[in-house]
Amino acid sequence: MIQDFQGTAYLAPEGFLKELSSELSELTSIQETHDRLILTPSPPQKAVWAQNTWLNPVLISFESISDAAKALRSIQGTWVLTPTQLHRRAALIQEKLPKIKFKPISFPSALPETPLGSWTLLEKNLILASPSCSSPFPNGEIHFKENKTDPPSRAYLKLWEALCLSQKFPKKGELCLDFGSSPGSWSWALHELGANVVSVDRAALEPKIQKLPRIEFLKKDAFKISPEEIGPLDWFCSDIICYPERLLELVHQWLDAKLCQNFICTLKFQGETDHHVVNEFKKIPHSNVQHLFHNKHELTWSRLQP
Ligand SMILES: C[S@@+](CC[C@H](N)C(=O)[O-])C[C@H]1O[C@@H](n2cnc3c(N)ncnc32)[C@H](O)[C@@H]1O
Repeated sequence: MIQDFQGTAYLAPEGFLKELSSELSELTSIQETHDRLILTPSPPQKAVWAQNTWLNPVLISFESISDAAKALRSIQGTWVLTPTQLHRRAALIQEKLPKIKFKPISFPSALPETPLGSWTLLEKNLILASPSCSSPFPNGEIHFKENKTDPPSRAYLKLWEALCLSQKFPKKGELCLDFGSSPGSWSWALHELGANVVSVDRAALEPKIQKLPRIEFLKKDAFKISPEEIGPLDWFCSDIICYPERLLELVHQWLDAKLCQNFICTLKFQGETDHHVVNEFKKIPHSNVQHLFHNKHELTWSRLQP
């Protein structure tokens, strides 16, 4: 039997259940938590710590493994299991569903268009399943074909993810400012797209990155560079390690200068998450705050030209 579930399910990123729970407790009430999946009784809301949001869940009560798979197939063809408990039984149901092969994607890429449902076993004979979810990637996990030779670290993956999710990419000849750029993988990623990069850090860039033709490296304190010194630019990027309040002040300084349209910045937390500063970033008009799959204890704030 299939019936509507009055509410929404949110999947926390691995290791960040506490952050998502406390965010959701401010927005609504929490009904149940199954491993990293939090169920609430309210319609979907934007939760920055959710890796995937199940937008229209249903409850399926079933007798046998075959019945369960049949019921899921009757709703749609493509389902991803979110394992929470009863792992063996859930795997047996998933085996009876059409197989989908998820391959790492190249960068840049368009977003997948196939609707992807998510499901889990809540009890031995009860499934929670959502035919539509906020993320077009299985359990919100975006895997790229990585470049293991050129960039000096894997930090470029979060920039790739932010750009890929927004489907906005720096273009050939555009000017990007990269604050907190050492050892240089964001600068490398921007340069790969054909952009000109002003790369700023107090620490040195990896020499092979500094030698790239369209990278200008400034060994400086980013907080001491004024927008007027740089002039008009297309992209403001920051991956600086600093207190989020300091980043907030910096971002306001650059927004107020009105010399740039596109911003992508990492907010990094040491110890407890500073929910107050997250709310301040959320208040910036036309912007988005999100925990990306490639973020650690950090969030990505972006404000992109429409
Ligand atoms: C996480 S690393 C950046 C990694 C970089 N995005 C990459 O892809 O290779 C953070 C950087 O912030 C830099 N940083 C911290 N405070 C800074 C400041 N006031 N001005 C410039 N850079 C700063 C650090 O030196 C460090 O290299």
